Amino acid sequence: MSDPDTGGSVVRYYCTAGNGMERFLIGEVKEKLAAEDVCQTAGKVLFSSSAAIHRVSALKAAERLFLLLRSDAPLRLPPHSGPANAAALLRSRLLGDVSQWAGAAVTWRRLQGELATRRTEEGRRGERERGDEESSEAPTLKRERDEEEEKESERKRRCEEDDGGEEASAENMHHVKPSAGALPPEPALSFRVSCKCTGSLSRCFGSQEVSRLVGGGLSRLLGWRADLKNPQLDVNVSLSNDHFLLGFPLTRLPLANRSYMKTTGLRSTVAWAMASLAQIQPGSCVVDPMCGVGTILIEAAQEHEAACFLGLDLDDGQLQRANENVEFAELGDRMQLLKASCMRLPLSSGSVDAVVCDLPFGRKFGTKTNMAANLPLILTEMERVLRVGGTLVLLLSPQLSCLLKALLNPAVPGPAPGQEAELQREPPPPRRSLEHRETLRVSLGAIDGLIHKYVKTDI
Ligand SMILES: C[S@@+](CC[C@H](N)C(=O)[O-])C[C@H]1O[C@@H](n2cnc3c(N)ncnc32)[C@H](O)[C@@H]1O
Repeated sequence: MSDPDTGGSVVRYYCTAGNGMERFLIGEVKEKLAAEDVCQTAGKVLFSSSAAIHRVSALKAAERLFLLLRSDAPLRLPPHSGPANAAALLRSRLLGDVSQWAGAAVTWRRLQGELATRRTEEGRRGERERGDEESSEAPTLKRERDEEEEKESERKRRCEEDDGGEEASAENMHHVKPSAGALPPEPALSFRVSCKCTGSLSRCFGSQEVSRLVGGGLSRLLGWRADLKNPQLDVNVSLSNDHFLLGFPLTRLPLANRSYMKTTGLRSTVAWAMASLAQIQPGSCVVDPMCGVGTILIEAAQEHEAACFLGLDLDDGQLQRANENVEFAELGDRMQLLKASCMRLPLSSGSVDAVVCDLPFGRKFGTKTNMAANLPLILTEMERVLRVGGTLVLLLSPQLSCLLKALLNPAVPGPAPGQEAELQREPPPPRRSLEHRETLRVSLGAIDGLIHKYVKTDI
């Protein structure tokens, strides 16, 4: 499938993703970008797509987005190769085909130009929508914005000039390689190299050494100018026992930084993944009974315009921040917030299509509720408000995850002795209608969490 915005040219990208998020990212690039040649290596997903760059840069499961320059088999140095031979081998693998670097830089500039155009268009649209506000705006503010816009257009014009109006041909290959003679005269790019070198190669080369080797080569071979402080282009080199990847980042900020969130809670990518498991349909009613600042519901609402959302929390501060987030994301017409306890939901039975919830791990969010002891009651409430066929998606710490399995599946051995005592204080009520669908481990940074998905059956 080609996209009119890109003139149909296929570009090869890679994205980084948190541990456990790769499968979500693979699903997303296939579904939203009709991506082809999709493959993964630890923490990275590679794909080709002709979708417009603003759609690629709107991916939700990815951390960072790169234009792929080259992906090769991992470099293995022959045994007993001396330092000089090893360096020569590495240099030729990294810099071998110079036209590949020049071609990728042309594509990178073009994509930067398209992103800048999009930003300008969005800025103009926003201004038009603000309408009357514009006329009453303070003159200094308006002048500042006009100047900023002028600079943006100038940046864009320069990018287009640098491209010489030429489109690099991209015949479904790993990088875009212009034919000889078709290269426009390139102004010297300023650049900086960041390298991550791990595995067996790191016994011979440090990351800084590889960066210097690439930097020196690019200056010599292409006339690019090293600038460690404020470069136009970042060159990313990632070498490990699993992969050999060279690429250019396409956005300054990680994709995981959401422009529509004022205060962040749960990692946006994980919140998005949880929402994507909840089987939300047009008209669905989705509830987060411990919504915090509302991250999961806001991620869900961005994807599902025809669904409505209810967030509950006991903490006034969290609800205040959630309110600000909802306003900031302009979701007030579809998202309600209420102060209530997850152990006593103010909702009638069978009234909800999906429950999504990130239970406190007891690290970032202190809570007065003893989650382990109250898990049976919390689950009973969630099960009660769900309609038959509705979906429950929970993010739990590894400890709570063991408790949940023991509660919902009698065949699973019970929790650790200390926790067992707490559970037995009140016999767990029946929750047989929750049918297990899947459990996935995802990284939350310092620790992992487990996402559990259940569907309510009519048992
Ligand atoms: C892990 S945080 C949720 C974070 C949320 N996903 C976000 O992105 O901001 C758990 C939330 O549960 C709330 N909470 C704790 N005990 C509760 C209870 N008994 N009923 C409702 N909310 C509760 C806390 O105030 C906290 O905001």
